[in-house]
Amino acid sequence: MRHVFIDTFGCQMNEDDSMRMFAFLEEADYQRTNSAEAADLIILNTCSIRDKAEHKVYSALGRFKELKAERPEVILVVSGCVAEQVGKTLLSRAHYLDMVIGTHNVHKIAELVADFEAKRARSVSTGFRETLDPGEYRINDIKGEGVKSFVTIMRGCNNFCSYCIVPYVRGREVSRPVAEIMAEVRELATMGVREVTLVGQNVNSYDAELSFPELIRKISNEIDEILRIRFVTSHPKDISEELINLFGELPKLVNSLHLPVQSGSSSVLEGMGRGYSVDEYRVKLKRLKGLYPDMAITSDIIVGFPGEREEDFLATMKLIEDIRFDLIFSFRYSPRPGTKAADFTDEVEELEGKRRLDILQSRQKEITAEKLNALVGLVTDVLVEGPSRASAETNGSELQGRTPCNRVVNFVGERSIVGSVVKVKVTEACTNSLKGALADTTGREEKGAA
Ligand code: 5AD
Ligand code: SF4
Repeated sequence: MRHVFIDTFGCQMNEDDSMRMFAFLEEADYQRTNSAEAADLIILNTCSIRDKAEHKVYSALGRFKELKAERPEVILVVSGCVAEQVGKTLLSRAHYLDMVIGTHNVHKIAELVADFEAKRARSVSTGFRETLDPGEYRINDIKGEGVKSFVTIMRGCNNFCSYCIVPYVRGREVSRPVAEIMAEVRELATMGVREVTLVGQNVNSYDAELSFPELIRKISNEIDEILRIRFVTSHPKDISEELINLFGELPKLVNSLHLPVQSGSSSVLEGMGRGYSVDEYRVKLKRLKGLYPDMAITSDIIVGFPGEREEDFLATMKLIEDIRFDLIFSFRYSPRPGTKAADFTDEVEELEGKRRLDILQSRQKEITAEKLNALVGLVTDVLVEGPSRASAETNGSELQGRTPCNRVVNFVGERSIVGSVVKVKVTEACTNSLKGALADTTGREEKGAA
């Protein structure tokens, strides 16, 4: 029995790819380990969305140099987005690296490793395919261990926003067949999963035998054990009326939406090639908030995009003030090689970009806190996920669950309620989570307020 250690960087797509690698490698008699020192095969599954993310990979790679010098038989692999982007140059950058495996070759991991074991010849497997190979997606036991799981429904992106490297490292959009997705969700449900998050770079563009809303409806109607459905990520330009109405139609589709706006200035959005104006974004949100006042809306924002003037930044500040997002993920623009914006010359100075990011993040922190505080006193449905973080360490009786809006709530309760939806009264708001007390364990899932 050999052991594999995977270090995963970046987003849910990479998380899912790591899960798939575990599944394929298990079939080839590899067992998962959490220690690189104990591993015969080490995989760095990498992210290149921003320069900083890419640098993390190089320093992680550097850490394995010594280990490889001591135990040269260990196989060292770089997979994921940096592998796809940098390709064979990685082999010359790190002479101790054995294999480079790109995003469309994840499912070939076992074959490629076996090949390396036989020949001990360094290899690079990158490049795109326009279709999915049968059985390209496979699940393993780890995926079904918890109460919730991701299910990839599509890969790639056709949008080519001017700052974004994703289309270059993940290729064009391809949707997984409906039957395959249904089989995966069913299997996860059998393993005890109660919440699925459908993931893809741009899930609204899902296009197979069914449309995206039809797929959600089918999962909701046909798989009873699944109590909650979420999805990420949606592109504001593709949020259809049908999808908006679906939140009202399906109790299992929780009141929570991640809708990256990227900027509060239409001229910046134009430079980004996002395909919508700020007003169009505001109209969609107004409609959503009008129909579902309790819906939690989260977003992504980039500051310091080339050409962003002070007034554009202030427009972004105005937007977060007006919308009051529950949470935002915000970043300073990072030029990515090969993208359109990498050639834009009207850069925002580094210090100025940092200043803007600081202002944005401090204000959002306050808004997030205010929104959490407003929930104190409310009773909400909570899907119980397991022991809270503190409890896991101390063997205590505190449980952790999530509200429909995906907020973490810690409360005291029996382990037997893990996997069910219970009513919890919110008693306190902390920085990033809530504290509560069990109100009624017999409650059915409703569209809760928190
Ligand atoms: N620089 C900074 N942030 C970026 N993102 C994507 N590309 C870049 C970039 N070049 C952010 C976007 C996206 C999130 C996943 O990462 O906000 O929504
Ligand atoms: Fe990148 Fe835009 Fe595609 Fe999102 S929609 S992955 S930001 S190109």
